[in-house]
Amino acid sequence: MRGFVDLHCHWVAAIDDGARTSEESLAMLRGLHQAGFDAVVATPHMRPGMFDNDRLAIERAFAAMQPVLAAAGDLPSVHLGSEHFFDDVVYGRLVRGEAVPYPRLPRLPLVPLAAAPREAGSPATASTRRPVLIEFGPAAFPARLQHRLFDLQRAQLVPVIAHPERYEPVWRDDACLDPLLDAGAHLLLDLCSLVGKYGRAPQRAAEKLLEDDAYEAACSDAHKPRDIETVVQAIERLHELVGSAEARRLLAEGPRAILGSRDDDG
Ligand SMILES: [Fe+2]
Repeated sequence: MRGFVDLHCHWVAAIDDGARTSEESLAMLRGLHQAGFDAVVATPHMRPGMFDNDRLAIERAFAAMQPVLAAAGDLPSVHLGSEHFFDDVVYGRLVRGEAVPYPRLPRLPLVPLAAAPREAGSPATASTRRPVLIEFGPAAFPARLQHRLFDLQRAQLVPVIAHPERYEPVWRDDACLDPLLDAGAHLLLDLCSLVGKYGRAPQRAAEKLLEDDAYEAACSDAHKPRDIETVVQAIERLHELVGSAEARRLLAEGPRAILGSRDDDG
């Protein structure tokens, strides 16, 4: 099965805790291609104090990879976003338009997504909104999270929540995700949660969220070449859990739908 789109991967070299060298970058992209991914979005961490990358640093690191990729030949198409740690600094960058939302992917067939709910009077429209990947710390959600997600909507951004199954509040009661969904967020499964990479609690939470049809898409969140073997196992497990049609929705159609939630492709 091919045509998968990976919305979350740390293959850009030497910018965060992902690939350390361009050789590792190539090994990851080749492995993901073999696993069925035809497009892979790089999502380097933007997390002040841990990975001090601003938009310019992320764009430069991605650009520096391009000659290496061009020389390597047959690879998935590559694109750029970022995994935004949702603290006060990054929140400010997001609402000021200084973040790295998901790109336009004009060569991929895009499926329109139903308009996400937003507050009355919001100036955001389907023609201008762009999805953006955000993550939280593991132990607790940020204060006033739902309000802040509505602020993103007003800034014409659609939040895509990275690995919700890995957050402790979700282990206790996944109803804590309801206000986020009400604020228009999409949930992005980290495939490797399904095979126990992060332990039993995230695995159980992921299985429950799959049962509830809560996820919009599934991603690799790969950091190292050795992660790809786990991704392959996780894709097999996903098929066992939900069947091939739903697996295809999560790996191929869902990511395209998220990217299609901005329709300024002309
Ligand atoms: Fe990540």
